[in-house]
Amino acid sequence: MCGIVGMIGQVGTKEILLKGLEKLEYRGYDSAGIALVGDDVRIFKEVGRIQALRDIVSADAEGTIGIGHTRWATHGVPSVPNAHPHQSTTGRFTLVHNGVIENDEQLKATLDVPFLSETDTEVIVQLMEKHFVELGDVEAAFRKTLSDLHGSYAIAMIDSEDKERLYIGKNKSPLLVGLGDGTFNVVASDAMAMLQVTDQYLELHDGEIVILTRESATIKTLDGDVLEREPYTAEIDASDIEKGTYAHYMLKEMDEQPAVIRNIIQHYQNENGDIELTEGVRELVSEADRVYIVACGTSYNAGLVGKDILERIAGIPTEVHVSSEFGYNMPLLSERPLFVFLSQSGETADSRAVLVEVKKRGYKALTMTNVPGSTLSREANETMLLHAGPEIAVASTKAYTAQIAVLAILAYDIARATGKELPFDLMPELARVATIMDSIMAQKELFEDLAERYLKTTPNTFFIGRGLDASVCLEGALKVKEISYIQAEGYPGGELKHGSIALIEDGTPVIALISQPKTNLNIRGNVKEVVARGANACIISMQGVEHENDDFILPHVEPLLAPLINVLPVQLMAYYAALARGCDVDKPRNLAKSVTVE
Ligand code: F6R
Repeated sequence: MCGIVGMIGQVGTKEILLKGLEKLEYRGYDSAGIALVGDDVRIFKEVGRIQALRDIVSADAEGTIGIGHTRWATHGVPSVPNAHPHQSTTGRFTLVHNGVIENDEQLKATLDVPFLSETDTEVIVQLMEKHFVELGDVEAAFRKTLSDLHGSYAIAMIDSEDKERLYIGKNKSPLLVGLGDGTFNVVASDAMAMLQVTDQYLELHDGEIVILTRESATIKTLDGDVLEREPYTAEIDASDIEKGTYAHYMLKEMDEQPAVIRNIIQHYQNENGDIELTEGVRELVSEADRVYIVACGTSYNAGLVGKDILERIAGIPTEVHVSSEFGYNMPLLSERPLFVFLSQSGETADSRAVLVEVKKRGYKALTMTNVPGSTLSREANETMLLHAGPEIAVASTKAYTAQIAVLAILAYDIARATGKELPFDLMPELARVATIMDSIMAQKELFEDLAERYLKTTPNTFFIGRGLDASVCLEGALKVKEISYIQAEGYPGGELKHGSIALIEDGTPVIALISQPKTNLNIRGNVKEVVARGANACIISMQGVEHENDDFILPHVEPLLAPLINVLPVQLMAYYAALARGCDVDKPRNLAKSVTVE
């Protein structure tokens, strides 16, 4: 995690860096810092958000070169000494780093200098100083330093003796160079940070460095060979990354879900209304005898729904795996496996580690991501985009529904290609889903009431359901945990009696999702069991399986697509519970949006 920015330009650098860091706060927000090169190098660091950094940066601090960092602590607590930038003992080199250096202890042992922080980053800058003394050339020392590192890094480095260059390096952590108008250039972990000054970017690959001047960006290998690369235009609308009139990004992003579904329909449908995927994607799936969905967190939860849709519609056996487990514990694979990486950010390190491994073994991969040009997209054989627009709130919402919709489209396309009978017409049904989503989002105050009644003061809660509803319960529990800090469990209703029902006490809130006709009677039985033990049950059902006393009855959709609808009430309840409990909805404690460490 962590986000970095850098600029070599004219006056105004400080404000551009601070604004850039604000856009990267989703990558970590426990401490932040910047270094500015004016007559000398001035470093400002503070614990907390970028606002806290702003508060301590002197009004008279300016510079035409600068680097900045927002941190999600990996090595050492959030503190001023551990915050970046870090400087070499003589003060000659100053750098910011995103990533994890795995051989930091071994490298530290080779250096006879005092270390002022607990980070794995400080060793990089001290090593840089050592190599510079040995080699007498900054660029050569930078390349040698990076060659010595094992692990992941995105680095921006200042040489206090040279006001004409910034040094950039990348391996496994995301980093882009933004091209200016000939008077400046910038660097950032994500294009969103620098959209304020440019939409022209250079993609960087692992093991590359860049020598950035005001007029040029020279990409080189670690051996010093120059590489040519064409810039691309970042197609993000700057207004997409603003909150507008919304109190929180999460609320805005939940509200965007109907529009996202419509956007997906438009992107994956031709003028005849038929699903249209690229030939590359079609070829990839036509070769596969089994799908392995690999993902983390909310994306994993969307994958569980995707498995049901792929198996029931396309008839292709599908497994869903947590990325961080899959790498170490690979299951027996089928003869022609297809790996599908689900990732909103396209940068999640756990998923990327699996992608690297499966490619090494010669298998094919399809990435479904919201971020074109992201690492998982670039490195997979094919990509299907989520078209959800930037997701900024740490708690993922619209990416979840987008992933399910895109997985359904893939399932339908496979089914069509293999001549399977289709139970309903997908695209019109998705359009209906979007309309129903609109109607649910128009009734937010009802879910605010439910959150008030069931979640505001409770220390714990259960979400129960069966079949597809059980998968949505996992997502409901994750949303509640991460933003309102309530101990929440998503559970298959039938499984409760095998142990966890022991936790039900007087007043324990149990939220039941009921959308599947097949399991309606059974899950209602499970609700009775918990109520008999004192639980305070909240039932969210769907027309066709409703009872008049249910807390909320959702309009009917095809049961296979019900997760697209019944996740909305749980997202909203999690949001309002977090608000009622005074939590920071968009930036929950201990988390970061893009998890770029394994
Ligand atoms: C939860 C959440 C995380 C992410 C997970 C994977 O709200 O956002 O659980 O879903 O870190 O991230 P991506 O999808 O970017 O790979």
